[in-house]
Amino acid sequence: MHAESLQDPLYLAMRAWARDEAGQAAASACMTCHAVGTFEGRTIGVDCEACHQSRTVAGPKDLTVDTALPVRARRKADAPHATVADAQLVSGAFCLVCHAELHNQAGLPVCTTGPEAAENPQGPGCLSCHRAHDFPGAVPALLARAATLAIEPRGNEVIVTVSNVGAGHSLPTGSALRQIRLDVVFTDRAGRRVGDNATDAAALFARLLQDKEGKSPAPPWRAVAVARDTRLTRGELRRLTYPIPAGAAAVEASLTYRRAPTAIAERLNLEAHKFLQPIEMARFRRGLP
Ligand code: HEC
Ligand code: HEC
Ligand code: HEC
Ligand code: HEC
Repeated sequence: MHAESLQDPLYLAMRAWARDEAGQAAASACMTCHAVGTFEGRTIGVDCEACHQSRTVAGPKDLTVDTALPVRARRKADAPHATVADAQLVSGAFCLVCHAELHNQAGLPVCTTGPEAAENPQGPGCLSCHRAHDFPGAVPALLARAATLAIEPRGNEVIVTVSNVGAGHSLPTGSALRQIRLDVVFTDRAGRRVGDNATDAAALFARLLQDKEGKSPAPPWRAVAVARDTRLTRGELRRLTYPIPAGAAAVEASLTYRRAPTAIAERLNLEAHKFLQPIEMARFRRGLP
């Protein structure tokens, strides 16, 4: 994703939409984190030098690559270029230059991974989970260990429990486009659907932004308020209760991650793009007494 930070099709489409609706200044502001300036006046994406040969005083705005600097590394090494040990890089503190908190023009926080993780100062740093150097994020392997799912029948109801066990921050985190949906389906003895939770708004885990007309979800540059934030905070265990419909013999729950709501993917003509296909995170099935 870092290598794609300037070519990523969802990013390009959202930036074009921001430009059409809010003007060039709004679109240029995106470059603060998706691009890095160099000392010689070039613009690059989140490339090697952005993390290994850059300096900043006040965050992403003035992050500048300077190839005269020694390369920041885990330890000073014998390399054909100068290197320097950098504790900030290894602890993950440096990640927060771009991942801490992003406010839009209305002052609304639209991306808050840093503060979400900081709620537990003893918690592991970013790199303990995003360890591989391709910095995997919302990929099937990490999503599969992010949450657990369980179903417990009680009387004429079932209690579905969803827990954020694997993310060091809210689930989902990052861009306000991200959504996770819990689907619960009841079937009879013949496997026919006899009920589901399709209309339950509480089964969508997302931070939905709202514009000044009260419309939601609104894109980040137009947002003036958070309509609702139903994401699972770090370590949270959430219980949802559903009545067992007549004739139900089994119940199945599944959790699905989407990088962007289907309506936005369709609006941007990206619904067929491989990045925007739903990813199954967990599934749990049991018979009913
Ligand atoms: C303060 C830094 C910052 C600024 C400014 C910023 N972004 Fe981002 N953006 C990020 C980070 C960090 C991520 C990765 C978080 C994630 O994956 O959820 C990201 C991810 C995204 C994604 C998701 C990409 C994908 O393929 O899933 C889109 C789309 C996006 N940004 C669009 C924009 C647009 C449009 C703007 C300007 C209106 C903008 N960003 C401004 C930091 C920033
Ligand atoms: C998003 C920031 C980021 C980007 C981009 C990045 N790196 Fe790294 N790199 C790190 C971090 C953090 C570590 C230390 C990881 C660890 O603790 O193992 C590291 C470690 C390394 C190491 C091991 C050196 C040591 O510390 O022992 C090498 C070599 C390296 N990176 C090369 C590259 C190259 C080449 C690129 C571009 C293709 C690149 N990096 C892009 C953050 C980054
Ligand atoms: C110069 C700004 C910058 C720095 C520094 C940075 N990132 Fe990112 N990161 C981004 C942007 C921008 C994106 C989204 C790129 C896109 O797809 O448009 C991103 C994406 C990601 C993703 C992928 C999210 C997904 O959707 O799957 C992960 C994980 C991530 N960063 C972790 C890290 C970690 C860990 C560090 C520290 C070693 C770090 N980042 C440092 C800007 C940065
Ligand atoms: C305890 C493990 C853990 C720690 C610590 C952790 N993460 Fe994550 N992260 C995950 C898992 C699991 C996912 C996939 C689920 C999700 O998207 O939330 C993820 C996803 C992400 C994403 C992608 C979100 C998306 O949907 O695009 C970004 C960006 C990210 N993490 C950044 C960070 C940063 C920055 C830190 C440090 C402040 C950090 N993470 C600390 C486990 C962790």
